[in-house]
Amino acid sequence: EYFYPRQSRQLGLGHAVLCARPIVGSQPFVVALGDSILGLHTPSKIVERMIEEFERRDVDVVVAFEEVPDKEVVHYGIAHPRGPAGEIFELEDMIEKPSVDEAPSNLAVAARYVFSPAIFEALDHTSPGKAEEIQLTDAIQRVLSAGGKGIGLRLEKGERRFDIGNFRSFFQAFA
Ligand code: G1P
Repeated sequence: EYFYPRQSRQLGLGHAVLCARPIVGSQPFVVALGDSILGLHTPSKIVERMIEEFERRDVDVVVAFEEVPDKEVVHYGIAHPRGPAGEIFELEDMIEKPSVDEAPSNLAVAARYVFSPAIFEALDHTSPGKAEEIQLTDAIQRVLSAGGKGIGLRLEKGERRFDIGNFRSFFQAFA
């Protein structure tokens, strides 16, 4: 069975997630962005691992990250890890689509998230940011700065995200 809300105005990714609030209620939930494909050539365990860590560490936010070259940080939400970023790391902050100079790391959001319902409260108070849209990254920032805990998980070695929102990787994904 599928349930879906309709986002009748294009107010951004954060707003789209907020539209799901009546369906999700007060449960933890996963956000998987449909324009990024994982597990295309080999099955991906990333979401399973994220849920395990979410439960084990009792955090509010878990985000999947992929290391990207400098020139690509401007297309993604970027992690500001607390200390050196191993396979799993604590999030100090996040920034949406920074310039290379602003980027605190090369770790880009790989389109999968696990959230506690605290994110809804944060989204309620998040004003439009980059591109005048309500950004999910800004709401995560809000949860973290209010004392919530967030962690990042890197995709496994050799695992790739295909961002089909750009021509090159669209064709790589479906070639
Ligand atoms: C969205 C998010 C961004 C994230 C990306 C992942 O951007 O705002 O933080 O890195 O998805 O694919 P969009 O692809 O909507 O520009």
